[in-house]
Amino acid sequence: MLIRETQDSDLNDILFVERTAFVDDDTIEELVRNLLQDPSAQPAVSLLAFLQDRPVGHILFTAAHLLRTEVPATIALLGPLAVVPDVQKQGIGGKLIEKGLQMLTEKGVELVFVLGHPDYYPRHGFQPAGRLGFEAPYPILEKNAWAWMVQALKEGVIDAVSGMVMCADAFKRPEYWRE
Ligand SMILES: CC(C)(COP(=O)(O)OP(=O)(O)OC[C@H]1O[C@@H](n2cnc3c(N)ncnc32)[C@H](O)[C@@H]1OP(=O)(O)O)[C@@H](O)C(=O)NCCC(=O)NCCS
Repeated sequence: MLIRETQDSDLNDILFVERTAFVDDDTIEELVRNLLQDPSAQPAVSLLAFLQDRPVGHILFTAAHLLRTEVPATIALLGPLAVVPDVQKQGIGGKLIEKGLQMLTEKGVELVFVLGHPDYYPRHGFQPAGRLGFEAPYPILEKNAWAWMVQALKEGVIDAVSGMVMCADAFKRPEYWRE
């Protein structure tokens, strides 16, 4: 499997992967298209996974900002992550997360947030963010509180920082925060 950063010419492959993975949710393709063009989402990390030249997975991390914090921190938001159904459960999603976190660490990002499956992301180092004092950009329903997660890429930062996460403009729609 090859994982590499995407370029503008990869847009059709990216949208194909998103559409195929999120088969019941046609808002995700539009979200990804918008995020890739959104200046407030930059710097972003966008990675495609290929199996024998076939695009099978995509992950996007976009820039975010921490409000109401006394200590500044460089943060990013993971999402969406998509793997096409016929090659799921082969570790592709996990490898995309790992590669993305490694690149973000090299770029100096200190905290990464995700709203996602609470049984999946903890396998890759994420933990519940609400109880650590991190608010999501939109209120998360109490029953989904565990889906709002964070991972520190720099030692000590999670104990020193708290606040409210402000996402890129393209993410600012309540329907993206229902989980
Ligand atoms: C979630 C997703 C990206 C995982 O990709 P993947 O390549 O299959 O993931 P991996 O191979 O690294 O990990 C697979 C494991 O995660 C588990 N897993 C997958 N989706 C899960 C979920 N929603 N909740 C809990 N566990 C999940 C699988 O059951 C599997 O477990 P196993 O190792 O015990 O068999 C993929 O299933 C997908 O694209 N789903 C549709 C889109 C989506 O929901 N994206 C995530 C948005 S937060």
